[in-house]
Amino acid sequence: MNFLNLIEQKRDGSELSPEAIAEAMAAFSTGAIPDYQMAAFLMAVNFQGMSVKETHALTLAMRDSGEVLQFPKDDRPIVDKHSTGGVGDKVSLVLAPLLACLGYRVPMISGRGLGITGGTLDKLESIPGFNTQLTAEQIVSQVQEIGVAMGGQTAEIAPADKRLYALRDVTGTVPSIPLITASILSKKLAENLNALVMDVKFGAAAFMTDVGQARALAQSIVSLAGECGVKTTALLTGMDAPLGRAAGNWLEVQEAVACLEGNGPEDLEKLVIACATHLPGGDAEHAREELASGRPRAKFDELLAAQGADLDEFTAKLKKDSIALVVKEFVSPIGGFVRQCDARIIGELVRDLGGGRLNQDSVIQPEVGADQLCRHGSAVRAGEVLGRVHAMTEEGAATAFGRLSEAIEISTDPPELPVLVADVVE
Ligand code: URA
Repeated sequence: MNFLNLIEQKRDGSELSPEAIAEAMAAFSTGAIPDYQMAAFLMAVNFQGMSVKETHALTLAMRDSGEVLQFPKDDRPIVDKHSTGGVGDKVSLVLAPLLACLGYRVPMISGRGLGITGGTLDKLESIPGFNTQLTAEQIVSQVQEIGVAMGGQTAEIAPADKRLYALRDVTGTVPSIPLITASILSKKLAENLNALVMDVKFGAAAFMTDVGQARALAQSIVSLAGECGVKTTALLTGMDAPLGRAAGNWLEVQEAVACLEGNGPEDLEKLVIACATHLPGGDAEHAREELASGRPRAKFDELLAAQGADLDEFTAKLKKDSIALVVKEFVSPIGGFVRQCDARIIGELVRDLGGGRLNQDSVIQPEVGADQLCRHGSAVRAGEVLGRVHAMTEEGAATAFGRLSEAIEISTDPPELPVLVADVVE
């Protein structure tokens, strides 16, 4: 095919035909289009955008670069949740087993963290022995058997997205609404879902800092997913402060387990329940009761065991206050109210300790992070702990400690409380 012609058409603002887009994606998948040409095309899309029709065609073509999971027919709806990424966002770890207990089938395919936003896959990999590399066949059989599987994008699921994402990441073409829409939905459509709940974050530590941009992304995803037969609702949620009180891979697993045991932070539990409520048949009261029943906690262990985790080692690890080598507490120099606990700085601090990636090849340090983080708006006394850093070296701890003190601001007057769920797009 003449891909140069397509690049030029897009550069000049023409609408591409669905057939041309499908042909281009098929050619890219077989290696017939070099990365430099695809990079130019992505930049043209970044500047010129795509119509709904073009985005639809791109999404289906990316989905069809791989397999679509095929589930046997049964009464349980097939659902998933996807977040655009935040700091301390461990909702999926609590929500997936809860949804399985509520009678849904949950083939949850998650991503790795990049930059300051964490990824569910990295969190799961801090669990001893847990295998995130499931084949499409394994995902289907485990979901049929226990209602839930959590893994990474396999070679069979939307492989074109994997290559395109890697190119976007190094060519400045990540923040494009049609490209993000196609990237997320190609994977979700490959899961063959009946329904999806999206958590689209906005604020200091989100991909989209502005609520208007987040709403535009949410509308793009909700309407296209609906056209493709996946009933989708998007929550617009604030990401100025970390979610919960812990950020860092293992620390977040610990906090997710606390939430499954009824001892989690209030904002985390609220968001888990909000996600469950916005799926078809969802009911907040029922979801709350199910979470409190202890069954989702047992389901989490069942999920871990099914994917090879060592439950004895996991339980022993959960009991430890920290698995990092150095822990440093930051205490409040004065009494007052927490005016700010800046999620962007906390995210950078975790990444720089080794808990996140500076590039695709970075090796993750699961032990590091920050916990016992103070809640925005809460009253604090002088000498009260406002947060702790967990590091692998004294030097790392000292730097992180400095960043933590920068992230937290105490005021004498109570500040306005930030909203958790600012809006719902459906
Ligand atoms: N998450 C994805 O899977 N793709 C994007 O493009 C952005 C966030």
